[in-house]
Amino acid sequence: MIHPILKMGDPRLLHVAAPVTGFNTPELDALITDLIDTMRAANGAGLAAPQIGVPLRVVVFGFDHNPRYPDAEAVPFTVLCNPRLTPLDGTLEDGWEGCLSVPGLRGLVPRHTHLHYTGFDAQGNAIDRRVQGFHARVVQHECDHLDGVLYTRRIRDLTRFGFIDALPAAPTTAADA
Ligand code: NI
Repeated sequence: MIHPILKMGDPRLLHVAAPVTGFNTPELDALITDLIDTMRAANGAGLAAPQIGVPLRVVVFGFDHNPRYPDAEAVPFTVLCNPRLTPLDGTLEDGWEGCLSVPGLRGLVPRHTHLHYTGFDAQGNAIDRRVQGFHARVVQHECDHLDGVLYTRRIRDLTRFGFIDALPAAPTTAADA
């Protein structure tokens, strides 16, 4: 089922979400199906459960090569529950981000370039990856949602935040997540 996506200002986007405690259940499968359907209907690169009002630590993301964002690297489609993120070094890189909960806007956000993340899929199988670049950025953006953090709070230079159709630095590599 496609859900409405909560928008910035909704207090539910500010809550810390609870861990998933049961895997391979009809309830978790239904949540994940709804997240995927909602993300795809919105042409998103990712979506976190709190964005549809469900306070659980579940995110979905994935990004095939997309003609709308010709410069963006593909990211494998992933369902990630109870993620733990560890930056692999102190390197931060600025990149343009958008969010399905902040429609029409883009901001330049610093993120760790190299990231180790772990978690579980819907069946409870372990996920353990070392990634970089856009993949690392999407994971950090999505997992921030689980702690009630929108990307707007991470922007260091608010002159690099604005409406997509007004920003002079055309952010063609950004997709909403
Ligand atoms: Ni987002």
